[in-house]
Amino acid sequence: MKIAIASDHGGFALKKKIKKYLIEKKYEIKDFGTNSEESCDYPDFARPAAEAVAKGDFDRGIFCCGSGVGVSITANKIKGIRAVNAYSEEIAKQSREHGDCNVLTLAGRDKYLDPELALKIVSIWLATPFSGDERHLRRIKKIEG
Ligand code: RB5
Repeated sequence: MKIAIASDHGGFALKKKIKKYLIEKKYEIKDFGTNSEESCDYPDFARPAAEAVAKGDFDRGIFCCGSGVGVSITANKIKGIRAVNAYSEEIAKQSREHGDCNVLTLAGRDKYLDPELALKIVSIWLATPFSGDERHLRRIKKIEG
């Protein structure tokens, strides 16, 4: 599985942890930046990464910012992207089973999301397949119009 990762400064530390985890688990990854905790604008990184997922260059994307919100909004503007800002393992699992979400976004600030929980969310989100149920397929088709 090929995974695009991206963050702004607020998500940089969490992205680093996730990157290490994904490399250990032998996933093929590309880091679209940012590369430091210097203040920057999340769309500069989340948008190209989301476009690469939508194009099919990557199977999934995992993006982090301070709250997970900015990168989620950015990703969901790209046709073909279904991004979830997950805050629990249950939400991560359901986002795959029901929504076939291809981008996971996470809050990098500890006050919003514990980094250990974030890694558990990543793990379950990557491991959970889409249910393929007719009702979910119908709903996903309606998103694209
Ligand atoms: C940066 O301060 C912050 O706005 C960003 O990381 C993100 O949380 C936006 O949604």
